[in-house]
Amino acid sequence: MPRMTGGEDEHSYTRNSQVQARSIDLFMKALLEDEISKLAVLKGQSIIKVADLGCSTGDNTLRYAQLIWESIHKHHGGGGGVEVHYFFSDLPTNDFNTLFQQVQGWESKMGTMSSSTKLYPAAAPGSFYKRLFPCGSVHIVLSTWSLQILSQVPEAVMDKTSTSYNKHRAHIPRGSPEAVVKAYGEQAKKNLHEFILCRAHEVVSGGLVVLLLVGREDERHPDNQWGKDLEVGTPFGSIFENTWKALVLEGTISEELWNSFNFQIYARSLEEVKVAVEATNLFHIKELQQHEQSFLDYEEEKKVLADPEAFAQFYISFVGGVMHSNIANHIGYENIDKFFQRLAQTAREAIEQKLITKLAMTMNLVVLIRT
Ligand SMILES: C[S@@+](CC[C@H](N)C(=O)[O-])C[C@H]1O[C@@H](n2cnc3c(N)ncnc32)[C@H](O)[C@@H]1O
Repeated sequence: MPRMTGGEDEHSYTRNSQVQARSIDLFMKALLEDEISKLAVLKGQSIIKVADLGCSTGDNTLRYAQLIWESIHKHHGGGGGVEVHYFFSDLPTNDFNTLFQQVQGWESKMGTMSSSTKLYPAAAPGSFYKRLFPCGSVHIVLSTWSLQILSQVPEAVMDKTSTSYNKHRAHIPRGSPEAVVKAYGEQAKKNLHEFILCRAHEVVSGGLVVLLLVGREDERHPDNQWGKDLEVGTPFGSIFENTWKALVLEGTISEELWNSFNFQIYARSLEEVKVAVEATNLFHIKELQQHEQSFLDYEEEKKVLADPEAFAQFYISFVGGVMHSNIANHIGYENIDKFFQRLAQTAREAIEQKLITKLAMTMNLVVLIRT
């Protein structure tokens, strides 16, 4: 099971999620406030139920909660008395202990708003590909940077006897065998269908679902998951692949371990999302947008791409936040420092060879209303 790195230390998601945080200021803040202000189903409600699916831990989680809470207070709080039941939802392996300690500190800083529009934080552990809430009980669902993570690596991809066996690769870089790419696409399709059906049961009629997920610009070629630059520089690109190869060649990691590590991740095109939603006929699509989201401010990006060491530090922080514990569990904690040292070296080399010219990811932003 994938999980972000818990706790609050140097590898934690809490301290290494600035790329994901940028989405909040770039487009999520304005969009969420606007959608909530117009959400007719909230009028006259005394209890409003909100769920953040794939919430993880840290500032992003709390900033989304604050944003939604403030928007409800401002546009639907009226004379007070509205209560917000806010569900932080993630896999049971998420570090909920750290999260709820963070929630406690944050809530006490929220001042007067917390006395007129009371927020009740709760945990809803479980996979968002399954049912999490009772029928027709949730008014607002949010999920950011999470739905690109599949429920599992497609089985055939790990099966040595299958034509879809993904030997010597952890994902589907351009030119991967068609059968492997297809297996990933089918898993992604099945998962999105499951997600939409579950939410259709749980969300009240007129309720809001806002999804921000890693997407793919290239509609026609699913093996072109990230585009030219990120094919090298995403946490799933060739820097990562070459690191495994080097560690196998020097004997630190067995070939078997290399072959048995695959990412359960898939960047969908906007069309794939649209088709999945329309197939159920249970949601009205209000917005379907694609954004190219830069990882850093323009000046910072220029600096990082001109300085191999700065890029290496940025890159291992990004990878560490989302995968340190997954990789460590797979190759053993005794090998994890070596892995990250080699990752940093490979990242430096990629900049020296000028293989990356920009750092931006395609994001799909989807706004749905339950019919
Ligand atoms: C990159 S983090 C995103 C965190 C946060 N929403 C943000 O925008 O920074 C992805 C989160 O999705 C969670 N996740 C992955 N698969 C999941 C699933 N099937 N059900 C629920 N959560 C899942 C992970 O555990 C992780 O916390």
